Amino acid sequence: MIPTATIAWKERKLIIIDQTLLPNDVKFIELETEEDVWEAIKVLRVRGAPAIGVCAAYGVVVAALRADAADTASLKRHLADVITYLAGSRPTAVNLFYALDRMKKVMDGSADNMSREALLDALEAEANRICEEDLAMCRAIGEYGAPLIGEGSSVLTHCNAGGLATSGYGTALAPMYIAHEQGRTFHVFADETRPLLQGARLTAWELTQAGIDVTLLCDNMAAQVMREGRVQLVIVGADRIAANGDAANKIGTYGVAVSAKMHNIPFYVAAPSSTFDVQTRTGDDIPIEQRDRDEVACWGGHKTAPDHVNIYNPAFDITPSELITAFITDRGILKPPYTPEIVRLTQ
Ligand code: MRU
Repeated sequence: MIPTATIAWKERKLIIIDQTLLPNDVKFIELETEEDVWEAIKVLRVRGAPAIGVCAAYGVVVAALRADAADTASLKRHLADVITYLAGSRPTAVNLFYALDRMKKVMDGSADNMSREALLDALEAEANRICEEDLAMCRAIGEYGAPLIGEGSSVLTHCNAGGLATSGYGTALAPMYIAHEQGRTFHVFADETRPLLQGARLTAWELTQAGIDVTLLCDNMAAQVMREGRVQLVIVGADRIAANGDAANKIGTYGVAVSAKMHNIPFYVAAPSSTFDVQTRTGDDIPIEQRDRDEVACWGGHKTAPDHVNIYNPAFDITPSELITAFITDRGILKPPYTPEIVRLTQ
């Protein structure tokens, strides 16, 4: 069974699990328009770098299916606008731009005199390929990463880089799923991941569903658990990895990496080739999404901070490459020096 497929394309309908409702409700919703897709990405109904890319690719097909265009040339013009619109939903995860670029290339490569149905088929086939490739890359990450999780060890993770964040298996969680499949016994510490609790709501949920032994921690407990000698390795995901190996991931990842360094614990970043961005030179060049103040000042509809207090709410941080022991990718483990390895990976 594929752990937690979160996006389904069935009879030309785009269905997702609404992740804002987890773990209380497992609700499948249909995204019927490009506006639905934009909103679902923006408010994190669908989230996690690879899943955002896959969903946006299908979003282009959704838009093509419902477009009221007179001919193929005007449909292509409309879809170019849709691609720009969807690209504006979130700025950090490069997988969104990777997937939309691939959809644009299919569109640009199609002749204006092609039938509308033929263009639709080509776009649908490309979105399916992006989705299937992601699943295969995640499985490969799992196979390369599983040997790092020794019998009886404990691994700490931050945010959710699991099946819910991809086409299945996840990135950081894929080695755990494969090690579990192989019958290994190990333990996972999941940081809750304030402000939106992806670790508590999503990672703890999907690992529990899979029967993997997981302990939930508040973010501020991770360093102490490391100090107690209870963590043998850290595996996290990434939203974008620059050419020099600096990695953007959920806010709080950098602090986990600093603590891991302090305690001599290996810190791994698991990511598919589609998350490496050689056009971005260093972490300083990665755009960091700033999110709404209410995510920090409220919880569950209740205020948790005084009105008008200043709020800072970056969704991601940058872990400098020198804190990363290795990258677990779909093509193997990358060790420093990273730049030549990353260039080879993305060629
Ligand atoms: O804001 P989110 O929930 O989309 O952030 C997700 C993360 O930071 C994940 O760790 C990252 O996208 C990798 S998902 C395989």
